[in-house]
Amino acid sequence: MAIVQFPEGFVWGAATAAFQVEGAYREDGRGLSIWDTFCRIPGKVWEGDNGDVACDMYHRYKDDIRLMKDLGITSYRFSVAWPRIIPDGSGEVNPKGVEFYRNLVDELLANGIEPMLTLYHWDLPQALQDRGGWANRETIDHFLKYAETVFRALDGKVKLWATFNEPWCISFLSNYIGAHAPGLRDLQTAIDVAHNVLVAHGRTVRLFRELGIRGRIGIAPNTEWAEPFTDREEDVEAAWRRRGWLNEWFLRPVMTGEYPEKLAQWFEKLGGKPKIEPGDMELIGSKIDFLGINYYTGAIGRYNPEKGDIFGFEEVPMGWEKTDIGWNIYPQGLYNVLTYIKREFGDIPIYITENGACYNDEPDAVGRVRDARRIEYLKKHVLQVARAIGSGVNVKGYYTWSLMDNFEWAYGYSMRFGILFVDYETQRRIKKDSFYWYRKLARNNYIEV
Ligand code: BGC
Repeated sequence: MAIVQFPEGFVWGAATAAFQVEGAYREDGRGLSIWDTFCRIPGKVWEGDNGDVACDMYHRYKDDIRLMKDLGITSYRFSVAWPRIIPDGSGEVNPKGVEFYRNLVDELLANGIEPMLTLYHWDLPQALQDRGGWANRETIDHFLKYAETVFRALDGKVKLWATFNEPWCISFLSNYIGAHAPGLRDLQTAIDVAHNVLVAHGRTVRLFRELGIRGRIGIAPNTEWAEPFTDREEDVEAAWRRRGWLNEWFLRPVMTGEYPEKLAQWFEKLGGKPKIEPGDMELIGSKIDFLGINYYTGAIGRYNPEKGDIFGFEEVPMGWEKTDIGWNIYPQGLYNVLTYIKREFGDIPIYITENGACYNDEPDAVGRVRDARRIEYLKKHVLQVARAIGSGVNVKGYYTWSLMDNFEWAYGYSMRFGILFVDYETQRRIKKDSFYWYRKLARNNYIEV
């Protein structure tokens, strides 16, 4: 057996997001979000599932924090629901909403767990979507007001702040592919949303500095790795465009204040172009303190203009194992993403803000959840993080997705990512085998392989 050690002070954490776990969707003045609406459109979410109750964490957070403590994590990543803080997105602040997150954060701190707060994990107030949502630049101003409210309420308590979770999902997945709320299918809208979200990100970072809020601020984009099937130029280019869409389109402007030229030209060929106003790019490139990286999967593919995606990228099935949600298991891709970031953008501190696997193992006859495949997945990815650290990538921590099974967006409750099993009938939490495995890792700060 070999031991792979992590640096001293490395953060082991776990993550969730408001809409996926909180429930209490009409309680204490919470407004409706685009996901409340989307869940009610027939055919959009598996079996019409919704977030009305979810894991009921709104009421059970104290018990759940006890479980986090037992797990031995030193940080918990969660998101704030904008519709709890400003129910209609632009009007009055709802004190009860603010109070909930104050209590949550106080409880975390009392248990020695550092909060990492994400301001936006997809639950846009519906009232703003009714006025165009993120495609309307006015939403940026409303977001700034919301961010300021949260900053002021939790200044000094929260030290790790992330502006947006996965801008690719907010824009392309939700407005071009149409799989997530609001479910549109228009490339220009997706590009506008991406741009406005990036501007909102940059302005939020500036605001954070102007207000002198304590702590560090970053963003949590989703990444994937696409590798060319051969080293033929056209395959290499197609793979670059494909991963560029996911990675470069967001990382480059945030890190350098510029869109990737080659990809911008490709979008233009497809009839889409960002509407850049003077000063936007400087704002987007405002210096951040860390990058959050979400990583799950990747692919190998070749150029095929007929059968490929809009980038001419056609996946070639390599016979890799897949998780229960059908995603390729590609641990090396995480190493590739991390070393690419170092190469392109330097030594910015990185937190893996999400990594985990969907396996739908249920409790056995004696109530034990034997999710050995999740343990394997986590082990393989954590090892790639260790490789990246050894290669000089400045990775400071790792948050597994997810602390508990929860509302998996368009898949509803049919897909389980948790290291805690949630029985949605009774809201009972059961520690899976992976919970115990992760606890050992968090305590030891090394991995046995
Ligand atoms: C999201 C999570 C989601 C997870 C698994 C990420 O894209 O940030 O909210 O549950 O992946 O799909």
